Amino acid sequence: MILTKNKEMICENLNRNADGELCFAGMPLSPLAEKYGTPLYLYDEARVRHNCRTYLSAVREGFGEAARVMYASKAASFKRLYEIINEEGLGVDVVSCGEIYTAKLAGFPLENAYFHSNNKTDADVEFAIKNGVGYFVVDNAEELFAIDEIAKEYGIKQKIMLRITPGIDPHTYAAVATGKVDSKFGSAIETGQAKAITSLALTFENIELCGFHCHVGSQIFDADVYLATSKVMLGFVADMERELGFITKDLDIGGGLGVRYIADQPALDIKATILIVAEEMKKDAERLGIALPRISLEPGRSIVADAGLTLYTVGTVKRIPGYKSYVSVDGGMTDNPRFALYGSPYTILPVFGEIGDDAEICSVVGRCCESGDILQENVPMPTDIARGDLLACLTTGAYHYSMASNYNRIPRPPVVMLNDGDSYLAVKRETIEDIIKLDI
Ligand code: LLP
Repeated sequence: MILTKNKEMICENLNRNADGELCFAGMPLSPLAEKYGTPLYLYDEARVRHNCRTYLSAVREGFGEAARVMYASKAASFKRLYEIINEEGLGVDVVSCGEIYTAKLAGFPLENAYFHSNNKTDADVEFAIKNGVGYFVVDNAEELFAIDEIAKEYGIKQKIMLRITPGIDPHTYAAVATGKVDSKFGSAIETGQAKAITSLALTFENIELCGFHCHVGSQIFDADVYLATSKVMLGFVADMERELGFITKDLDIGGGLGVRYIADQPALDIKATILIVAEEMKKDAERLGIALPRISLEPGRSIVADAGLTLYTVGTVKRIPGYKSYVSVDGGMTDNPRFALYGSPYTILPVFGEIGDDAEICSVVGRCCESGDILQENVPMPTDIARGDLLACLTTGAYHYSMASNYNRIPRPPVVMLNDGDSYLAVKRETIEDIIKLDI
């Protein structure tokens, strides 16, 4: 069996050309490695735009023209990406002053931003208000007091949504008594804290409560999770209308749609999933006798993951007789900590070379001084894999660049965008001078 046949081409933007070279966004990979060096983060601009359009058209069809898609920029945050997201008509979810500042420098209209975080300092609150962030997604009572005070100083009424914990376990799809209520985020409906913070939010002069937000998890493939979540949230909206006379204008049902990292995982139909949820929510609202609030979704991973690929160069191949083989590359947990942190599966392919029946099963590892620095285990590799060969790790657009570190004082790779057969730099390669520059 040839493993690198179409089955392994898990993304639509991947193929092998007539010379057998792996191509991404229609571009052969070895000239990119030559031009920019490795390790190298690549982004397929057209794929980011395609994913944005899929979401936007689906939410508009399902929930009406006012519905919004807020890209969760923790998945990947750099100036060029905010520009693209803005051009595509999405808003953003930001979680720190760093993300707000990056978006601002990219010219992103911050009135289209939701500011998250379970612990916004006074400095964060002030920075966001000063820069005109549209909405705070308020996590707790302390934050309400801080926003009210700082909004007063700036003479504004700050729009907010409250983060609510609906108590849905994304793995069982069920509303659970504990578990997901036991979270550092938001106020639980079940404990009465969600209602309490709603009443409290309505008492501030310098705060306008617009509605509610929830996010139950990530890498979710089943629409049932969203059906269960939205049912609980709409029930809460109806309760708040009945009990507090509060009419919810905005309801954000979070992000979390899953992406395909390996052939065994499904390629989720984003549009179909959203339409199923929209139909059910409209029926639920009618049943509850409430108007359906303006809906927003907050996807991160599914906007950028399959638009990303990381290129590495093999440095060493170590075969331990009776044990296994290690292929070491010039990156590792510093540019992709997700296997080390979560045991996440990935597809890693040689840029050249076929994997035949005699494929050698290897661990692909990084170059950090740590045994846990593994990119993936049990990866089939060509038997002649050797120093200088290029490897591509697929589906690396989400939570890679944004989670990269300088562990071992290793500089972070550059980000290069691919578009229409051209490439351009979006983030420069970090240098060791960049790393040392804060040391006194
Ligand atoms: N909204 C909120 C409030 C979130 O906390 C998140 C993700 C999202 C939206 C976007 O979720 P997505 O569509 O990307 O699944 N570092 C982990 C993922 C952490 C997700 C944190 N919150 C990873 O690498 O898998």
